[in-house]
This record gives sequence, structure tokens and C-alpha cells, in this order.
Amino acid sequence: MGTMDGLTVTDCQRCEGLCESRSRIVNGVGPADADLLFVGEGPGANEDEQGEPFVGRSGDVLDETLREVGLDRGDVRITNCVRCRPPDNRDPHTEELANCRSYLEREISRVDPELVVTLGKVPGEHLLERDVAVTGEAGSVADVIIDGTPQPLLLCVHPAATLYDPTQKETFRSTLEKAAEFTDGESGQKRLGEF
Ligand code: URA
Repeated sequence: MGTMDGLTVTDCQRCEGLCESRSRIVNGVGPADADLLFVGEGPGANEDEQGEPFVGRSGDVLDETLREVGLDRGDVRITNCVRCRPPDNRDPHTEELANCRSYLEREISRVDPELVVTLGKVPGEHLLERDVAVTGEAGSVADVIIDGTPQPLLLCVHPAATLYDPTQKETFRSTLEKAAEFTDGESGQKRLGEF
């Protein structure tokens, strides 16, 4: 029902609706050994067209803010909870998230980043398997268990939130700053206590 070659899903028919409406499967981009792995919700229209996560307006905000905190898009890995665009930009259904979860878990365990950063409520709730109040919890770190191994995860608001509500800009920037500090020099585990 689905083939994953390394970090790339090359074919998948797990979601009947999404594989009919998608233009293509949108896989993660960035180094296979990145220290930071950003996880969004799912491709939008631009991503479906170009085959790369976060290339529309949200992507511009992400790229710009990464630069503000001293990071470059090319240094980090960026992926999504689901790899096919949900029509009309709706949230992915629970079943679609579940269908795509093994690909995301494999990507996390193969990249083995120092920190997973979830962009928005959907990826935070999906990976932590609990309700998340993302505005209040942005900047906090929790462990997600992947293949029995705890993996530090930093909750962050979605970059699109900064477009609708400018007060979210500082929350987004300061959370990315934490992510940048986390991978700076010392081991992530040691720095975790500071958060
Ligand atoms: N929003 C997401 O969550 N993911 C993308 O790839 C683009 C926008």
C-alpha cells in the first residue's frame, strides 16, 4: 500500500481520497542528518504544485524567521504529518494522519535529530497524542517516543498564525531561537534543562 525508499515515499495508496486529489506526494526536504527536524501539518496548494514542504507564504515566514535566529532553511529538515494535500486546505482527518504516521516515525528515527519542532497544533497533538493549547505551550519541550526511544520535541505555533495574528510573531521567533540554541554547541540533553 506504500513504499518508502530511505526518507522518501515513492508510492502510496493508503488514503483513497488524498491519493486521488493530490498532484504528487510531498516528501521531507533537507539534510538526512539534520540536527533540527520541523514537522508541519500537511501540504497546501503551493506544496502540492512544487513537491516541497513550506514553499508558500508560511514557508516565507519560516525561512525569514530561521534567518533571524541564525539558521538557514538548507541546514534543517522540513516535513509534514501527511504527505498528500488535503483538499480545500482542510485539516488532515484522523485516519489520514494514522495512515501516514509510520512514514513520519521512520523519518524521525532515520534522521535522528537533536530536536523535533512541531509547527502548529495538529503536529503537536499528533506526535504527543494529547490535546495541545499551542499558543500557551509554544516553547515547551516534551518527549515523543519513537520506536521506544524518547525524542525531545519543541512545541511551536504554525508560521501562518503570524500572518493572521501579528502578536504571534514574537512567539514564533522566540521559539525558533530556542531551537537554534538547543543545537548550538553543547549536547541537546544538557540544554534541555534550561527550557
Ligand atoms: N503548512 C504546513 O503545515 N505544511 C506545509 O508544507 C505548508 C503549509
